[in-house]
Amino acid sequence: MSDEARLVLERCDALAAVSSSPTGIERVYLSPEHARVNAMAGEWMRRAGMTTWQDAAGNQRGRYEGTEPGLPALLLGSHLDTVPDAGRYDGILGVLLGIALVARLEASGTRLPFAIEVLAFGDEEGTRFGTALLGSRAVAGTWLPEWWSLADASGTTLREAFVAFGLDPDRVGEAAYEPADVIGYLETHIEQGPYLEEADRALAVVSSIAGARRFELTLTGVAGHAGGVPFHRRHDALAGASEIVLAVERLAREADCIATVGRLQAFPGGVNVIPGLVEFSLDLRGEHDDRRDEVWAGIQAVAAEVGERRGLTLSVDETHRAPAVVASPRLRGFVRDGIVATGDTDPMVLFSKAGHDAMAVAELTGWAMLFVRCGNGGISHHPDEIVSIDDVAVALDAFEAAVHAVAAAHPAQAQAQAQSQAQAQSQAQAQAQAQAQVQVQARPQTQAPA
Ligand code: HGY
Ligand code: MN
Ligand code: MN
Repeated sequence: MSDEARLVLERCDALAAVSSSPTGIERVYLSPEHARVNAMAGEWMRRAGMTTWQDAAGNQRGRYEGTEPGLPALLLGSHLDTVPDAGRYDGILGVLLGIALVARLEASGTRLPFAIEVLAFGDEEGTRFGTALLGSRAVAGTWLPEWWSLADASGTTLREAFVAFGLDPDRVGEAAYEPADVIGYLETHIEQGPYLEEADRALAVVSSIAGARRFELTLTGVAGHAGGVPFHRRHDALAGASEIVLAVERLAREADCIATVGRLQAFPGGVNVIPGLVEFSLDLRGEHDDRRDEVWAGIQAVAAEVGERRGLTLSVDETHRAPAVVASPRLRGFVRDGIVATGDTDPMVLFSKAGHDAMAVAELTGWAMLFVRCGNGGISHHPDEIVSIDDVAVALDAFEAAVHAVAAAHPAQAQAQAQSQAQAQSQAQAQAQAQAQVQVQARPQTQAPA
């Protein structure tokens, strides 16, 4: 049984204990819990031989130099933040496998023709401020100034939270890489779905990630007496919202997209009061952005008809948008090679309906992802999220093999290899010539014919 895999799982448990909630795992961007897990990950990065720092957006980073200091880096990463009442492997496993991979290289004294930087992103989920991928967008250099006014449930703005965390909002740009300083991004992540478990496979390579849009919708009607107002006079915001929620499911299914109303609140919330206002969220995803956007148009049409018929008004605030992204064929090939190196000769390929930091990093460099089987029917964003120690062990082997495949194909490495082959060839030639020389000298002098 792999001690490394055991250590990774123990560290998942240690991080799971850092939560703002007494009853489950919850860790949000720029919180005291975020600072705590950054410090823990930073310590483990240092033990793996990395230099470490927290970047200007609050991501924890570690760097392992290549054959010489200052080389462009292959980025390995995932996130340490969570959804409310989360599992303990979503994002976390990818960060810890990146650290375990570097620890392996360091233990064997291996240096590659590029540096490795492990990134522990601080905000993939968007739990606190609604807009997701803030940490990885800072790294990709795609931060938007309008985000500073985003506020959390307590009214704290992103700018205020930055300052409270010890960061300078005016320097967030310093978190961004120059494209020339990176050679690609690889992320290992739990599948968060049932397909690997159904196929009884441990690993898969990701083909693409669904494009996502998130909205906050507010439906306004008229509150009133639950007994005194006859149906034909009602403007019941919750009855209207319920029609829209069911249309969301129907329209997304029909278009092979996926949509969820994860949060809904009716006001004023009295059992004997007709709801006059409903606030609800919408998470809408699709493999193709245009088809996803058609579903959104369909939902808006349904909402307009329901509003007309029931005398309700709808307001919409789009809080997040990330386009669908396709893995770099080259890097995806290396991840595939990594899985093959573990003995799985025909790796599964999966489309990811779950979003990942790779969506943001895709604006900076090519990316590829390795999926690891989830048990319990693939459940995730739930305390029952689970992975097996064997799958973690084989994932580490595949991840390391993928990085070595990147190295083997790396121009510097390929150049060095070509040089050493040329050297070996010329040595062999020289040897053969020397050999021939010796044979000529050793040949007995034949009598010249008289
Ligand atoms: O929502 C997602 O798909 C990801 O877990 N943030
Ligand atoms: Mn997640
Ligand atoms: Mn995740």
